[in-house]
Amino acid sequence: MLTIFEKIKQIAPEIDKMIKEEDLGYSQNCNATGDEQLKLDVASDKLIEHRLKELSLVKAIISEEKEDVIPVHENGKYTICYDPLDGSSIVDVNLSVGSIFGIYEGEPSGDTLVGAAYIIYGPRLEMITAVRGKHTRHYKYGNSELFTEVCDIMMKDKGKICAPGGTQKYWYPEHKEFIKSLFDEGYRLRYSGGMVPDLHQVLLKGGGIFAYPPAEDKPKGKLRALFEALPFALIFESAGGMAIDDKGERLLDSSPKHHHDTIPCFFGSKYEIERLKEAYGVANNG
Ligand code: AHG
Ligand code: MN
Ligand code: MN
Repeated sequence: MLTIFEKIKQIAPEIDKMIKEEDLGYSQNCNATGDEQLKLDVASDKLIEHRLKELSLVKAIISEEKEDVIPVHENGKYTICYDPLDGSSIVDVNLSVGSIFGIYEGEPSGDTLVGAAYIIYGPRLEMITAVRGKHTRHYKYGNSELFTEVCDIMMKDKGKICAPGGTQKYWYPEHKEFIKSLFDEGYRLRYSGGMVPDLHQVLLKGGGIFAYPPAEDKPKGKLRALFEALPFALIFESAGGMAIDDKGERLLDSSPKHHHDTIPCFFGSKYEIERLKEAYGVANNG
């Protein structure tokens, strides 16, 4: 696992440089979910594929940008599912974006996820890692061209911010009600449109909630289970937070049928997630 994190540390400054210096325009293609691909989506995907293939413990890789599983080393132990560039729609306006990695031992699913990491390309280059049953750890990239560990992250029981994803017009009534009740209680809105910076903010502020609910236009949400929701679920749970779906079940108990399946998801500290369960009428689940 540590070898994989070391490889991700090597990848981070390479993609950071790419984002800062290369063409941000569209390629001529769409990915497996039908999103238009930026040249940067394609270039970061290629770079990560190339780097992960250098590791003999990698059995296979699955990218958000590719339809199929790519076999790597027959005797490898881990399948790595990744979103090479999260936040494609906000890179042109110079907001923070990221890369997300889920490390699975066996067929990718909530219970086989053993490690996770994300890189955030912001004003600073940072990385967060989580190992199942252990900790969530924060690293910053410094002058010496190395990542140094900042601390282990532990969330509080309650926060002050709310990051509500999706289109309000299409939210179901229970969701509208829930978000309104948080704002009525004094929560402040924090939403950039990139799950990496939005979840990073909730995590580092020690609490709050990020929601990507099911809605009329997207009954299964928008965020993809293997590359986006599950890695963040492990990161939040290992930091003492919670990550559930709209039925109140832990995301880490879910098993997506297809590699590109999406899942409604909610991440936060205990107080907000318990409130959400009440609002959705699923308080006894999970
Ligand atoms: P990607 O750039 O990999 O397609 O993912 C973008 C995602 C995620 O980062 C973000 O939270 C969400 O899209 C925002 O969606 P809305 O604009 O619908 O809120
Ligand atoms: Mn994404
Ligand atoms: Mn992406």
